[in-house]
Amino acid sequence: MANPSTEGEHATVVLADISRRPKIGSRVIVFANEKGGVGKSTLAFHTAVSLAKSGEKVLAIDLDRRQQSLAHALENRAATCRSLGVELPGPRSLLLEHHSGAMLAQEIARVGADCSTIIVDVPGNDSPIARRAIALADKLITPVNANFVDLDSIARFSPATGRLTAIGSFAKLVAELREARIAAGFSDIEWLLVKNRVRHSERLQLDRFDAAARQLPAQLDLSLVEGLPERVAFRDLFMFGLIHDDCRMLPGLNGARIGATPELAAMLQEVGLIPDPLHKHVQPVRRSRPPARSLQRYRQSLQRHVGIEEPVSAPL
Ligand SMILES: Nc1ncnc2c1ncn2[C@@H]1O[C@H](COP(=O)(O)OP(=O)(O)OP(=O)(O)O)[C@@H](O)[C@H]1O
Ligand SMILES: [Mg+2]
Repeated sequence: MANPSTEGEHATVVLADISRRPKIGSRVIVFANEKGGVGKSTLAFHTAVSLAKSGEKVLAIDLDRRQQSLAHALENRAATCRSLGVELPGPRSLLLEHHSGAMLAQEIARVGADCSTIIVDVPGNDSPIARRAIALADKLITPVNANFVDLDSIARFSPATGRLTAIGSFAKLVAELREARIAAGFSDIEWLLVKNRVRHSERLQLDRFDAAARQLPAQLDLSLVEGLPERVAFRDLFMFGLIHDDCRMLPGLNGARIGATPELAAMLQEVGLIPDPLHKHVQPVRRSRPPARSLQRYRQSLQRHVGIEEPVSAPL
């Protein structure tokens, strides 16, 4: 059904470039969708931090030079650690400044040589570097918001019957890269379509979406993942560079409402990334104690964000 050929560099050229580069020994997990604002950076960040917390060595690569959402979240995490005088487990962070296949391979080898997992956050548009990143993926995670506008880059459906009528541009690109990858002697890409920002209150709309999406695994050889609901928790801790599960490890925050943690654990398990139980709960290492006033201010701000109204006094 797919009308072949997408515009831009041909998949065989992309694969020829990748084949010339040194082989990557680590598992590569790529977050990509040509559709913008669907949660690629959010999911990449939560996945990278969760894997690091489970004891893995992770390199998180941000390919989005303009927004740098993933790199900023990880900078914020480092700043939080400094402000609180603790050290939290986290991924190594890399913002790829020069977009070439050579640079991507070189930086993975240089910065991520000892990492078991490489996470790549791809910007929401087609480009030569986006194609190379997707072609390198062992696992391709494509977040979609549960509505037909956002599903358009993957597939289109008849409004009358709900039947699939056309394959979208991003899905065509992925199909071509997978084919070229196999022809070049690499293993196939495991492709997962992850629903994000699901609003369970919109039941009727969600049922229609799910009925349409259920046609995709057979047509596009992908797996559907239930994903994450719409929750303030998944965006509100961005400025601290934290995921909800971090909060119980931080002094003064053990009363935090950490409702988002089981949902993240379920999503990670569904995409085959972390066996249950999710984390080892490594305790943060205490570093030098910051000045008392700035520490107090930072903690109070954090307490407000995670839903602790009354500042909790805890020994530092
Ligand atoms: N599960 C969620 N619940 C609530 N908000 C979310 C969730 N997932 C993502 N968001 C919010 O949606 C917005 C877009 O998310 P994000 O930046 O991760 O998308 P993106 O696909 O990386 O976007 P871009 O294409 O611009 O890079 C952000 O404000 C983010 O905080
Ligand atoms: Mg992004």
